[in-house]
Amino acid sequence: MSAWVHFVAASFVAATALLLLLLTAATSAAAAAAAAAPAKEQWIFQSEKKWDREWSSGAWHYQEQVPVERSRIAVIGGVLVQLYAPQANATILEVGCGEGAVTDFLSPVQKLGYVGVDISKEAISIAKAKRKGGGMRFVHAAAHRFEPHGKFDVVIFSEVLYYTEYEKILDQYLQYMNPNAIVIISIFQMTGKPKYENIFAYAQKKFQMVDEIEVHGKTKKLGADNKPVEKTAFRIEVLRKRT
Ligand SMILES: C[S@@+](CC[C@H](N)C(=O)[O-])C[C@H]1O[C@@H](n2cnc3c(N)ncnc32)[C@H](O)[C@@H]1O
Repeated sequence: MSAWVHFVAASFVAATALLLLLLTAATSAAAAAAAAAPAKEQWIFQSEKKWDREWSSGAWHYQEQVPVERSRIAVIGGVLVQLYAPQANATILEVGCGEGAVTDFLSPVQKLGYVGVDISKEAISIAKAKRKGGGMRFVHAAAHRFEPHGKFDVVIFSEVLYYTEYEKILDQYLQYMNPNAIVIISIFQMTGKPKYENIFAYAQKKFQMVDEIEVHGKTKKLGADNKPVEKTAFRIEVLRKRT
């Protein structure tokens, strides 16, 4: 065999080996991405800009006008907080507070101990404008970045956990809770879907289950002024920090 044939054969072997190496690397990267996928599917990412756009366009204002949405808020603020954290000076933290509707159902003293946090600057300015005068504090911060000055007796996650890495967030907020504090979690019904089941399952692993309420009715989908109302249900759980 001539040197030229040797050279061509060697080049072919080297090229094949390189191709195989690249294919293996690509396959491992795809496998790693596939392994990571289920975790990602468990929560929905929406950027701060998108939240701001939705709040400034008025897309979420229906929540204060639709009876089932208002009932959910009333149950959280007017029933569950009152029954499970009855001390007058209870401190209340709401994550993803939106326009602060829960505070409509708090007593004047409870309002003084309320802090609402939201990723959307727009939502926070609407909350401040709509709910001024009661002494509540509204803070613009993403849930994972918020660091409170003190600890809380009640932490509310109303229709927000599925937008976050809920395991990390629940672990983080556990640190912000006083002994015996309660956490209230509301999630619209997605029965059978992993996201919905997993959030409650994780919460029950971390906290002690206290109560569960369902609120059923009809609601409108986000920004759907021209669409018919749909049947919907919310599951609200109350859990207590383990001692
Ligand atoms: C579906 S709305 C619920 C508003 C209100 N809690 C309620 O129950 O009607 C979700 C809210 O969570 C806020 N939000 C979403 N992701 C967040 C995050 N990572 N940190 C803080 N707030 C967030 C949104 O800006 C929005 O105001």
